Amino acid sequence: MRNVFMDYAIRVMDVSKKFGKPGEPFWKRLPLLKHVQMPENNGNGHGNGNGHAAAPQEGNGNGKASHDKEIVAVDHVSFDVEKGEIFGVLGPNGGGKSTLIRLMSTLLLPDSGQITVFDIDVVRKPMAVQPLINRVSVEASFFKKLSPLENLLYGARLYGMAGKETRKQVVEILTRLGLEKRSIYNPMEEMSRGMQQKVAIARALLSHPRLLLLDEPTTGLDPRSKREVQAVVRELCQEHGTTILLTTHDMVEAENLCGRVAIMDAGKIVAMDTPQGLKKRVHNENGSETTLEDVFLALTGKQLANKEEEANE
Ligand SMILES: Nc1ncnc2c1ncn2[C@@H]1O[C@H](COP(=O)(O)OP(=O)(O)O)[C@@H](O)[C@H]1O
Ligand SMILES: [Mg+2]
Repeated sequence: MRNVFMDYAIRVMDVSKKFGKPGEPFWKRLPLLKHVQMPENNGNGHGNGNGHAAAPQEGNGNGKASHDKEIVAVDHVSFDVEKGEIFGVLGPNGGGKSTLIRLMSTLLLPDSGQITVFDIDVVRKPMAVQPLINRVSVEASFFKKLSPLENLLYGARLYGMAGKETRKQVVEILTRLGLEKRSIYNPMEEMSRGMQQKVAIARALLSHPRLLLLDEPTTGLDPRSKREVQAVVRELCQEHGTTILLTTHDMVEAENLCGRVAIMDAGKIVAMDTPQGLKKRVHNENGSETTLEDVFLALTGKQLANKEEEANE
């Protein structure tokens, strides 16, 4: 039973975030341009697969202006994450996972609701929250011509770390994540995506965050790198007490790693429990053991499209 005195790392309280407000595009509201016909956009180039294509646009080729559509990326979401927990957010592409992480990490403002991180309001005191957290996005950016070591030393300076000790620490973290000695000194652009993802995690660890937000940390990794990253996540939690919130498409990962899992679909949390608790909710008719995949299908009516095809690049 939870009570009000519980130690929370994150509290998300009835939070919503929409993109693409409805209404006329701004240029139609300018008096002089009221009757100007703008060239029609044929609408072919803006699928929303990349997560950023939902900005209002005029005309989409089927006679319906896409700016009429509002996307509710996060829809009245509430949950708590306890200190020291590994909490998973599982859901299909476009479910709202990354938006939720951006809201927690002070990169986006919610339309309504409240988020606190270690009891600090992320909207009112972003500067107090930022030193406590770190986020690794799916598409982490680097100086591609520089090596992992140089990228991390640069990161370390931004966190106010310097000196010989830092260099030692950087090499240690990179080695722990399974990077070979020689790749530590080679340009990032020569590394696989899996390796780059590990460097991104290593960089996030430099600031010793109390809360680590990992947005699909293992998407696109080969099975071995995946296991290495998962081992680091587990170790961080067990040995350093770091609270971790991670998003994933991978049911097995969620089951193995997370104390609790929230299933998110179309901006809403449709279920939240321990992996075992979730599985108990669904009975498998053919008698075989229920998997989180079955739970997801039963709750959303959808198959969890995953990105495994990228895994062996
Ligand atoms: N910056 C943005 N502008 C407009 N729409 C966005 C933006 N970011 C995300 N969206 C939309 O919000 C929805 C949720 O996206 P996202 O949070 O990236 O989902 P997920 O990480 O689960 O794949 C999607 O429909 C996406 O297209
Ligand atoms: Mg995402």
